[in-house]
Amino acid sequence: MKLGASVLLIGLLLGGIALGQNVRKSIATLDPNGPEIASLRKGIQAMQSRAATDPTSWKFQASIHATYDQPSNQQEVQTWNQCQHGQFFFLSWHRMYLYYFERILRAASGDASLTLPYWNYSDPTQRGLPLPFRQPADPSANPLFVSERDANMNDGTGFLPAGAVDLSALNCTNFDTSDPQCPSPYGFGSAAVPQPEHFNELYGALEETPHNVVHVLVGGQNVSGQCNGSWMTDPLCSARDPIFFLHHANIDRLWKRWLDQGGGRQDPLADQAWMSTQFTFYDENAQPHQLTGKDILDTVGQLNYCYDDDPGCLGTGPPQPKNCSVMKLVCGNEATLVCDPIPLPDTLVLEARDKDAVPLPDYRGVGLTPPMLPDGANIVYDAPISQLDNEFKACAVDQSFRRNCIPDIPFFGPDLTGCPGGPPPHPLPTCAQCRKEGCACRAGGGCLCQ
Ligand code: C2O
Repeated sequence: MKLGASVLLIGLLLGGIALGQNVRKSIATLDPNGPEIASLRKGIQAMQSRAATDPTSWKFQASIHATYDQPSNQQEVQTWNQCQHGQFFFLSWHRMYLYYFERILRAASGDASLTLPYWNYSDPTQRGLPLPFRQPADPSANPLFVSERDANMNDGTGFLPAGAVDLSALNCTNFDTSDPQCPSPYGFGSAAVPQPEHFNELYGALEETPHNVVHVLVGGQNVSGQCNGSWMTDPLCSARDPIFFLHHANIDRLWKRWLDQGGGRQDPLADQAWMSTQFTFYDENAQPHQLTGKDILDTVGQLNYCYDDDPGCLGTGPPQPKNCSVMKLVCGNEATLVCDPIPLPDTLVLEARDKDAVPLPDYRGVGLTPPMLPDGANIVYDAPISQLDNEFKACAVDQSFRRNCIPDIPFFGPDLTGCPGGPPPHPLPTCAQCRKEGCACRAGGGCLCQ
């Protein structure tokens, strides 16, 4: 988002960093040419353009997972090669890693609504590598493409076999010990150990299948030992491939699906090592942070994200109507709204389309003002409003990510009110217009819409 407007506006936006729930969505629900994939590419590209010594760079983040490179300073010695495998820090460590990685990627993309998608390969229709990761098949045009993968997965002719993405791990009832329903002697989430171990081999059922199996099938068999061959197959190279993060988001999601089933399933809450061992990560400002197991138990309450299939993540029941009586584009890329108060942590989103109703995904702005959105709040676009045939609408998005578009004037503009040569302010909609939109009239002007 470009912060090209007034100081007031910048203050409002910074105050809005605590946005609503971040919903991690299935990649299959995203348009390959839509705004989410565009933001994903933009964020990866920005991270890749940073110096490898920058903790927020693509390379440094991959090295936090694991690397063949020699660390060149204390910071690198302490934070590289931390990934936890083959024991019960596997799930918790990767959740922490993805959490800070997602924050860095979001900031790098400039899209405050960016979240990591997940790849639900256990769905029979999703056994191939997601399209945006293989087309265009050119790393300079498509940051989601890397050539260091199995050739068939990359060209769309390869599919994960059903056995590779089997979910019988969900049958286990114990986190780290055997039970009769569990395909691994080390339970669902791998064996308990007294302290972190970068690579162990006491794989629990989920880490084995689908986690390990999918790594190898996506990466292929051409392992060079120096990241010249199969990235996903080699844990020292795997986090260089963007699909790594969608794979791990899915594993992280399956951990939640496992807990949901109840029947005695629970995290090792009584294990002091699992609960209290600290790991270090960097945020989007390259500031170090420590996380422990007890900090990441609740993705909603502690980490502010949910998966689109988490119960309640997308909200239940109808969204609360919010009303804006007047909206006008002030100038450049600002809009002024006069609205009912919108409580935190809801957000307002401005959407645009051209007159032919073609969506303009780049023209999307997010605004939020603490503690309530007062009348006359400004929200800003991430692109200048310059095309006079564009139309706009505002939507309120509540904390459960339910979108409620404010339909007083469903799409409005081209109204460059206040700009040199601009037209007069947009009039309030008449009662007749309100009824046409399926809304009631509002005392004092404007519409009340459900
Ligand atoms: Cu730390 Cu799937 O790898």
